Amino acid sequence: MPFVNGTTFETRERRLRLPEMEGFIARWYARIRGTESQLAEFREQASHLTAGLPDGARVLEVASGPGYHAVEMARLGRFSVTGLDISRTFVDLASDHARRAGVSVDFREGDVSRMPFDADSFDLVVCQAAFKNFRRPVAALDEMHRVLRDGGVAVIQDMNRAVSGADIAREVRRMRLGGFNAFMTRRSLAMLRRRAYSPALFERLAAESAFRTCRITTDGIGLEVRLTKPVGSA
Ligand SMILES: C[S@@+](CC[C@H](N)C(=O)[O-])C[C@H]1O[C@@H](n2cnc3c(N)ncnc32)[C@H](O)[C@@H]1O
Repeated sequence: MPFVNGTTFETRERRLRLPEMEGFIARWYARIRGTESQLAEFREQASHLTAGLPDGARVLEVASGPGYHAVEMARLGRFSVTGLDISRTFVDLASDHARRAGVSVDFREGDVSRMPFDADSFDLVVCQAAFKNFRRPVAALDEMHRVLRDGGVAVIQDMNRAVSGADIAREVRRMRLGGFNAFMTRRSLAMLRRRAYSPALFERLAAESAFRTCRITTDGIGLEVRLTKPVGSA
């Protein structure tokens, strides 16, 4: 489906390039993302997103960053959890975090648009606060579809492009960060919003992918997209 000027999402050059999240910036992000209130949220989301999965299910978090969410899913003790991230620093930080938490998570370095996993490997794929960063969004969706088993679901949670500056300020207050970190986070979110997708854009993106359709809900500055690989689609 055409996006702008006859190009598609997959062929469109994403003009705003983010700096790679390595070294200092990754360690800074891990610190501001690891506050008590956010860790409590990861804990809640881990239970919520995995509800209904059978014991022994295989769960993949793509763009797992510092690994907080993957570790919370592993703490539930019922699943085999894998994390994938393109940043070496994040893979190391996440592996350390899992070790300290005393849980087993297989954190791997790799690109979401060329995942180092066999087809039909996972029951659930989760991606938080990262999809807007992907340079090849349709390839990322196609890869999620490939690695999911029939009937498996990909859940993408990210910023909603259709939010206001006031919505962002409210969200940052909720994070209870100190002055400088709050300022930096507000600025980053305002910048990141320009890369994010609105629900309408996400529907068109899904239509270009192997999933074809998706279900979208919005909440605060975020949206949640659920994409199901139908049974018998292989
Ligand atoms: C804003 S961080 C989010 C990290 C984590 N999901 C969270 O919620 O804290 C974005 C993440 O996407 C990762 N990333 C960006 N492009 C990627 C790609 N093509 N493949 C895998 N990971 C990618 C970055 O390294 C970074 O860890």
